[in-house]
Amino acid sequence: MNIILLGPPGAGKGTQAKRIVESMGLVHLSTGDMLRTAVKNKTPCGLEAEKLMDRGELVSDFVVMEIVSERLDERDARGGFILDGVPRNVIQAQMLGEALDEKGMSIDVVVEIIADDDALVERIGGRFACGECGKGYHKEFKRPEVEGVCDRCGSTKFAVREDDTPATVRNRLKIYHSQTEPLVQFYEKVGILKKVDGMADIDEVAEQIENAIKGV
Ligand code: AP5
Ligand code: MG
Ligand code: ZN
Repeated sequence: MNIILLGPPGAGKGTQAKRIVESMGLVHLSTGDMLRTAVKNKTPCGLEAEKLMDRGELVSDFVVMEIVSERLDERDARGGFILDGVPRNVIQAQMLGEALDEKGMSIDVVVEIIADDDALVERIGGRFACGECGKGYHKEFKRPEVEGVCDRCGSTKFAVREDDTPATVRNRLKIYHSQTEPLVQFYEKVGILKKVDGMADIDEVAEQIENAIKGV
């Protein structure tokens, strides 16, 4: 099963992708995570991406699609994958379609996670992650079981994302509405779009996604 998770910043793409990976054993391909790793490792692509990401702008389509295409060539992707954060505009969707054709792959379902902007600003404002293993949390909606200690690895170091400042979040939302949202129509025309209510709580959204995928 090959899935695209579509949705604005903070909609829960990463949160839900991780759950689907656990339940269905798919490969999680997050372009945001891959770019953040490149920035951390100061690779040429990371150096190019850093300033754009800090401002909430999109990184070049060619850079992103090359990373995605290479990752899809790895053997484990043959068993199914979830794309989180890509494609992000119509050009990327077209490039993805061509790359998948060449590889003899295709997308089975696109799940749009719908949420309103005000809630997203609040969600992103409360987001933090383990500084060691990267497990994601939220100040209000998803706290560690033991205060100040990561559930997964026991670390007491936590970090927030560089691009989670209020000004950058607003810019990311603006770019989502102007460049990424047209993909809803794009995939509706292809006939593979399913919608879920991203305003529900995390378990409920997961259940809706499970049902949407089951029907494919
Ligand atoms: P990316 O990393 O993809 O960020 P994003 O799209 O802005 O989305 P987020 O990761 O912020 O949100 P999410 O939907 O994953 O939400 P999460 O699950 O964390 O991209 C970052 C940057 O990289 C871009 O700005 C761009 O510069 C660059 N980039 C990436 N891909 C690119 C591409 N293809 N082309 C060009 N540039 C690209 O949830 C958020 C918080 O809410 C968490 O704390 C979570 O615990 C909580 N939460 C989740 N669901 C719920 C719920 N239902 N109820 C309550 N709380 C919830
Ligand atoms: Mg994410
Ligand atoms: Zn951890």
